[in-house]
Amino acid sequence: MSNNKIFVDACLGKETPYTPVWMMRQAGRYLPEYMAVRAEAGNFLNLCHDPEKACEVTLQPVNIVGVDAAILFSDILVVPDEMGMDLSFVKGEGPKFSDPLTSQEDVDRLIGGEEAAGKLTYVYDTIKLIKERLADDKALIGFTGAPWTLATYMIEGQGSKTYNICKKMMYTNPELLHNILAKVTEVVKYYMEKQIQAGIDVVQIFDSWAAAIEPGKYDEFSWKYMIEIAEYLKGKYPHIPIIMFPKGIPAFIERGLVYGNFDVFGVDWGTPMALAKEKLGDRYVLQGNMEPCRLYSKEATTECVEAIQKVMGGKRHIFNLGHGILPDVPVENAIHFVRECQRVSRKG
Ligand code: CP3
Repeated sequence: MSNNKIFVDACLGKETPYTPVWMMRQAGRYLPEYMAVRAEAGNFLNLCHDPEKACEVTLQPVNIVGVDAAILFSDILVVPDEMGMDLSFVKGEGPKFSDPLTSQEDVDRLIGGEEAAGKLTYVYDTIKLIKERLADDKALIGFTGAPWTLATYMIEGQGSKTYNICKKMMYTNPELLHNILAKVTEVVKYYMEKQIQAGIDVVQIFDSWAAAIEPGKYDEFSWKYMIEIAEYLKGKYPHIPIIMFPKGIPAFIERGLVYGNFDVFGVDWGTPMALAKEKLGDRYVLQGNMEPCRLYSKEATTECVEAIQKVMGGKRHIFNLGHGILPDVPVENAIHFVRECQRVSRKG
């Protein structure tokens, strides 16, 4: 299949005229245009449920900041919400589930598999609208949370600093935790399949809370399920690149090449790019990994972009931040980052 999207080419390890760039959380509060649409929607979840408005904010960073790929505007937590958990976003406090999972009965009550995935119609409608309006040379990234990262919210009921409720389950009732992870994995497989059928060009799996698990347990409680999702999707849609982003697991990198049927490894900002290249660069295209707070300074940004370019040399690389952009970053600094990535890597 041929395409004219340099982002997709880069994911597949092909030569591109320059190294493409996007930013995790690129559609968000640092953009006044986003704040205006969110205000019209009333709140964040309404925005996720409204394909017209979600499409509009998806396209904003492409048009305003100049990134090479759009990422679907939604949230990882719409999945547990549609599985029957009651999601809300409390102002200043982040996401909350009113009835966190504590027992097998709670898990049995959740809606599973294709039925839950089928309820996310607003996501698929948003994707279709974006594809109609996105320039042909830009890619659309669809995404999901990793089962482990989703499970942390479903068990803790909210974000956590210590993950003690989840980890108590990990060490005292691992079977229950595995049952939760398996049920979420089933939904995510169908969810990503439906996103692909609606038109996304690339998949990203966010394991934002990978580092909460001790390295020796990571395979069992997270990696295994991410690999299962990738296997399923690659078996049916081999041309769709998959980006895996486990945040904060240098011990895992240290172990070297681990099998995974995916194309791109997202490197978080705490991992030196040179180490990631040495350990994983032959096997995977690498994405990343500027420390997001460098965006507060244009000089610090340019310095880092040049350093990453020096390591990667414009080969098998996608520029990105090493985690999400923060709400108080000046828009002009985000534009500067994108232009610098495109400038330093341009060939010929
Ligand atoms: O631009 C994009 O990247 C696409 C949209 C996107 C959002 N969330 C929108 C959002 C994506 C890809 C996510 C993923 C997400 N959501 C993750 C994984 C990525 C990561 O950052 O590690 C996680 C852990 C979540 C859960 C979540 N959603 C939290 C913890 C919060 C509150 C924290 C915060 O930043 O306010 C959200 C809310 C959220 N998701 C916002 C946005 C734009 C802010 C909502 C608002 O105030 O408008």
